[in-house]
Amino acid sequence: MPTQNIIIDCDTGVDDALALLVALRAPRCNVLGITCVGGNVPLAKVVRNTLVMGEHAHRNVPTYQGAARPLLAPPVTAEYAHGSDGLGDIGFPEPQRSPAKEHAVDFLIRSYMETPDELPRELPLLLTLAPLTNIALALLREPQLEERIPHIVMMAGGITGGNTTAAAEFNVYVDPEAADIVFRSRIPKTMVSLEPIRDGAILNETEVAQIETGPGPWCWAMGRLLRKNLTRWEELSGRPHPISPPDLAAAAVALEPGMATVEQRHVAIETRGEHTRGMTLVDNRQFRHLASDAMPPNVAVVTAINTARFQALVLDAMLGNS
Ligand code: RIB
Ligand code: CA
Repeated sequence: MPTQNIIIDCDTGVDDALALLVALRAPRCNVLGITCVGGNVPLAKVVRNTLVMGEHAHRNVPTYQGAARPLLAPPVTAEYAHGSDGLGDIGFPEPQRSPAKEHAVDFLIRSYMETPDELPRELPLLLTLAPLTNIALALLREPQLEERIPHIVMMAGGITGGNTTAAAEFNVYVDPEAADIVFRSRIPKTMVSLEPIRDGAILNETEVAQIETGPGPWCWAMGRLLRKNLTRWEELSGRPHPISPPDLAAAAVALEPGMATVEQRHVAIETRGEHTRGMTLVDNRQFRHLASDAMPPNVAVVTAINTARFQALVLDAMLGNS
């Protein structure tokens, strides 16, 4: 299989960290750059956490600072879920490297607008694991990106509900205006949403124990983060409970699209609802094409993720090529 060139946009919290470790270690994945945005924790911590994961993966990938806050909405963070440092307060050492001087939005525009002979033959897939502020800013700055970005795989949204509110998933809730800009764009998009992740992209004690005992600092880092996640879920549910880190699922789908079942749907972003701001409204009506408000599909919505293939990809990235 050919190598997949990708750019990752993240707000490195625990599940972003897991996704970064897998993408950076996966045998057929070439991460050209990582852009950071404020989200789970403030931007400075996101950048620090991202650099920490790059060093634990033994991959020297340029890391760029992007937007510190959403386009219009006040910042919202999620230390309650990711710890005050964003990495579960496990105690990772400070990174040795620094971020690149170039702004993340400038890097995104440069990566897609340089002539093809200056870039790898195939323009990189864009994997987003965070609020879509950087991507929206890049599209506003350089509208031609709509014709240049070949595919965006997003951890974003919910099909039947949210996590941050009953209606909205965190990445869309934090910056609904940015999500609206991206979802309205003509760029081919895949939305990896909460429900198929919860039902399919799961890891249990068995997989976590395998990774914990694997070689390399990437296994040590991934094992500690997964163990923290597994313990938290057991405490919350009162019994052993599988974990399904959302960003890890999105990264796996980006690297192996065949593990996902998708449906082409129209998805609208609610930016005004008192109770529904940040909702991804997926049009699943049976005769939607006959409806007076019918809109053409604009997103490939993931409806299922093959658990065995997801687990195999994660274990192979961590253990297979160490
Ligand atoms: O709703 C889950 C998403 O929000 C993940 O990307 C997580 O890291 C948070 O950013
Ligand atoms: Ca994230």
